[in-house]
Amino acid sequence: MPIVDVTPEALAEAARLLRDGRLVAFPTETVYGLGADATNGEAVARIYEAKGRPRFNPLIVHLAGVVEADAHVELSPLARALADAFWPGPLTLVLPRKATSSVCDLATAGLDTLALRVPDHATARALIAATGRPLAAPSANRSGHVSATTARHVADDLGDKVALILDGGPTHHGVESTVLAVSGGDATLLRPGAVTVDAIERVAGRSVARSLDDDTAPRSPGQLASHYAPAARVRLNVTTPQAREALLAFGAYAPRHDGPAINLSPSGDLIEAAARLFSALRELDATGAGTIAVMPIPETGLGEAINDRLRRAAAPR
Ligand code: TXA
Ligand code: MG
Repeated sequence: MPIVDVTPEALAEAARLLRDGRLVAFPTETVYGLGADATNGEAVARIYEAKGRPRFNPLIVHLAGVVEADAHVELSPLARALADAFWPGPLTLVLPRKATSSVCDLATAGLDTLALRVPDHATARALIAATGRPLAAPSANRSGHVSATTARHVADDLGDKVALILDGGPTHHGVESTVLAVSGGDATLLRPGAVTVDAIERVAGRSVARSLDDDTAPRSPGQLASHYAPAARVRLNVTTPQAREALLAFGAYAPRHDGPAINLSPSGDLIEAAARLFSALRELDATGAGTIAVMPIPETGLGEAINDRLRRAAAPR
């Protein structure tokens, strides 16, 4: 099991692995995170693969502080006040993403918003500094399992899927960060967590609306809108695209196509395909084609999440 104690050498090795596109689990003050370089689409695709998530939900990106956050998102005065009050700490802010942000589309599942947090844990902070990249990190457990609060939990759940597990002992809070969407002067709670709503409302000087991103709860209009979908119609399992369609191809046997076409992975690699999925949809959509024809993609491994996203994009709206 790749569990190591936190030493300067271990941190340097972890940073090297992360810059190389590998996965490293690390402790935060809430739960252990399964970290990847948030600017590297294939590294982020490995997170979804390791967790066995049947769909792409947006991930929290961890960084060093509010100065670093400025490079990625628009901080309204309210967002800035909350960041000043709670960072470093277990509050995640979902904010409008800047076009110049280097975070890959897969980390945000193609959304125009980005979830950021600055962890309050010496190991997490040292790792972010040593790596010099924003780190995408969901809780380090397999999909559907409880969040990992010790290095042993991580190893039991993800063992050979991670290159390294930094052992910082049991985590302090044991519950995840609070997730709050801030749009201008409005704050909406998306996930309750280690920072209470009371504490947020005291700083915000206003009340916080609740829109929990629980799959069983009725979807609010805001949540529906947050699911990225192309303007073009999407036609699935196409082997012979029509001339006017844009083609989203996969694998070595893509048909010749004169119109706009992108191959998600000529070699049929699902990690590469996942990494390119959202930017490819955007690019084909931007050509103005009325329909995007999508070749069949295998339902195995990451293919399940890729097909989930494509089926939603193809659903009648
Ligand atoms: O405590 C934590 O937050 C842990 C540690 C490792 O930092 N991380 C964590 O990450 O729980 P994750 O990726 O499992 O949680 C992501 C949560 C989900 O509820 C997701 O829906 C929400 O944040 N989220 C992320 N980006 C979002 C966005 N752009 N819009 C709405 N919700 C978003
Ligand atoms: Mg989780």
